Amino acid sequence: MSRTLFVTTALPYANGSFHIGHIMEYIQADIWVRAMRMAGHTVHFVGADDTHGAPVMLKAEAEGITPKQLVERIGAERPQYLRGFQIEFDHWHSTDSAENVELSQDIYRKLRAAGLISTREIEQFYDPVKGMFLADRYIKGECPKCHAKDQYGDSCEACGAVYAPTDLIEPYSTLTNARPILKTSEHYFFQLSDPRCIEFLQKWTTGSNVQGNKHLQAEVLAKTREWLGSGDEKANLGDWDISRDAPYFGIEIPDAPGKYFYVWLDAPVGYLASLKSYCAKIGVDFEALLDPNGTTEQVHFIGKDIIYFHALFWPATLQFSGRKTPDQLNVHGFITVSGEKMSKSRGTGISPLRYLELGMNAEWMRYYIAAKLNARVEDIDFNPDDFIARVNSDLVGKYINIASRAANFISKYFDGQLAYPDDAALLGSNWAQAADRIRADLEAREYGRAIREIMAHADQINQAFDTAQPWLIAKTLASAEPSQRVALQHICSSALAGFKALSVMLAPILPALSQRVATELFGQTSSFVWTDAGVLPRQINPFKHLMQRVEPTMLDELFEIPTQIASTKQASSTQQGAAAKQSGSTKQGAATKQTGSDKQGAAATQATAAHDQQPASAQTTAGNLAEANALAPGGEPLAPTITIDDFVKIDLRVARIVNCEQVEGSTKLLRLTLDVGEGRLRNVFSGIKSAYTPEQLIGRLTVVVANLAPRKMKFGVSEGMVLAASHFDDKIDSGIYVLDPSSGAQPGMRIH
Ligand code: 2FM
Ligand code: ZN
Repeated sequence: MSRTLFVTTALPYANGSFHIGHIMEYIQADIWVRAMRMAGHTVHFVGADDTHGAPVMLKAEAEGITPKQLVERIGAERPQYLRGFQIEFDHWHSTDSAENVELSQDIYRKLRAAGLISTREIEQFYDPVKGMFLADRYIKGECPKCHAKDQYGDSCEACGAVYAPTDLIEPYSTLTNARPILKTSEHYFFQLSDPRCIEFLQKWTTGSNVQGNKHLQAEVLAKTREWLGSGDEKANLGDWDISRDAPYFGIEIPDAPGKYFYVWLDAPVGYLASLKSYCAKIGVDFEALLDPNGTTEQVHFIGKDIIYFHALFWPATLQFSGRKTPDQLNVHGFITVSGEKMSKSRGTGISPLRYLELGMNAEWMRYYIAAKLNARVEDIDFNPDDFIARVNSDLVGKYINIASRAANFISKYFDGQLAYPDDAALLGSNWAQAADRIRADLEAREYGRAIREIMAHADQINQAFDTAQPWLIAKTLASAEPSQRVALQHICSSALAGFKALSVMLAPILPALSQRVATELFGQTSSFVWTDAGVLPRQINPFKHLMQRVEPTMLDELFEIPTQIASTKQASSTQQGAAAKQSGSTKQGAATKQTGSDKQGAAATQATAAHDQQPASAQTTAGNLAEANALAPGGEPLAPTITIDDFVKIDLRVARIVNCEQVEGSTKLLRLTLDVGEGRLRNVFSGIKSAYTPEQLIGRLTVVVANLAPRKMKFGVSEGMVLAASHFDDKIDSGIYVLDPSSGAQPGMRIH
């Protein structure tokens, strides 16, 4: 029975580039969507940028642009990542869209009509200089428990205490440093504590969809029970504050001047907005597609950090506004890199863009991520050695190897014609059954299990081939019995039938490769569908090289910061910053080439500027930019003006280099052991090997960015960044100069 599916991934915030966590989620969903399509189901797979909220508003303000301009700039970056990793959304939209305004306001009006909206006054910290209410993350002060300074408004990083911002001693606004005042304001609430909502959510969270699949995974259901209670346990669910006061970048609440929807109200509505915009494009009736009594299945892929919003708020919002509720929430864990946790805001370890710019094959990453994923809410780890082993030994060594071994004999001795022993029908039906098991595994999101089975088949095919030793038959073919010739054809044909079946099974994971196998090797005019696995191929075209092995040096480069020195161009410490620096070299060409439209061209060019917020650079070409930079001091224009508030965020400290060593296997790095006056030593990698020997540095004082998030690199974790000066353009060798404070400075002193 053909099914219709509406599939989404979590909408990424529009204030930053994609990191590897986004890419992992999109790959997971993309594989699922492709597997469902191969079974003949209709899938509408949509995404969008999550644009609203204070962070976008403040970031845009800091850059001197409007939130819409910021959203547009970030939005323009998206296609190169998506295309690069072969992630094929049908449509990409924005929560800052007419559809989203209309749908969010309509949903709100219906919730109000259902008697589920209430208002009440709440007291909150307000920044009198900025003229805005402050979310907890914009308030800092002294911890009321351990008296550590500069702790956030909700919890203390030093002692772990959790408190309200009003408990902080000497609170200050991180936006202006002003002391916040308490102010009251009327807020709008969605009454989740209403018995109707609790009753509905208790039912929905334990329910199943039309296919009999549970709405929630067991771990997710257990989590929702903590909030909803079960049996005699009482629910622990408060009403949901859905309003924010101006100034706020968001959607206005109807009949409530100066009030905006909290971003989390309109963000999931963005799923519907994107689908609606897509339906208009393809001529499908949006409301009919999402008829609450219809058969369309609504499936959301999300991370475990946003379960609360998707398993409670979102279904309740939809139910009580008379809309279709979700059918399946597919929750995944986080991706760690060599065991290190990734932060949502900074990302760590692997920059997806750098991965692509290094020319690394997207299908290696798709395969590796798939091999690690299962249907549970478990974190997965990207480990460089494991990555190399799985790609080189399994994907290339086992799977690709089958075709490269068998195809040449068929082309050389049998003019591409395949032939099978008498039990060919059995062979076909065995492959059909195997493919059906893999299809079911992929639908159940047991990708790792599917890949284990696929590789076990590859092992069997290779073993059968080795046992038959066709190369020995081929050697003496001229004088061999006819039966030997037939045997050679049978051995190679069976191996190739297996290769075709495995290619069908891997098609959702390796879309470009499987397409080449289908068209170039087997001469198919269409892409693989599941039933192709059991159809034995009758002829092949000459084998063409299909996939390179990973070079271990690529992983070294992936984990190395292109230039580890902390000159102004890296002050932002973002990976985007790192990519921008890199784009001065030949890799820039690749990045620019990857982009298709003018818009993306501008974005790529923009990324070549050290500071992508410089509006002028958006219109210049890379060449113009290089010329312009050549005239600027140090080879690059000055960065846009920042405020003292921006500067104080960077905690620069005097450090003593107590030890310095070469880093085995790295051509650029030195490993520094630094005393920053903290009673412990830090490990910092710095790209200054070309300018210094360890002996020249040991014992010297220098300056380090001390509050930079630790960063996992190939050779270990780097816990800071040493400041050094250099020319912007790597090709101009005017030296690298590590900064020294004047004598008398002590480790730990702050640079103001
Ligand atoms: O956590 C996040 O990254 C959010 N931007 C996800 C939103 S998902 C949906 F609700 F839009
Ligand atoms: Zn504390």
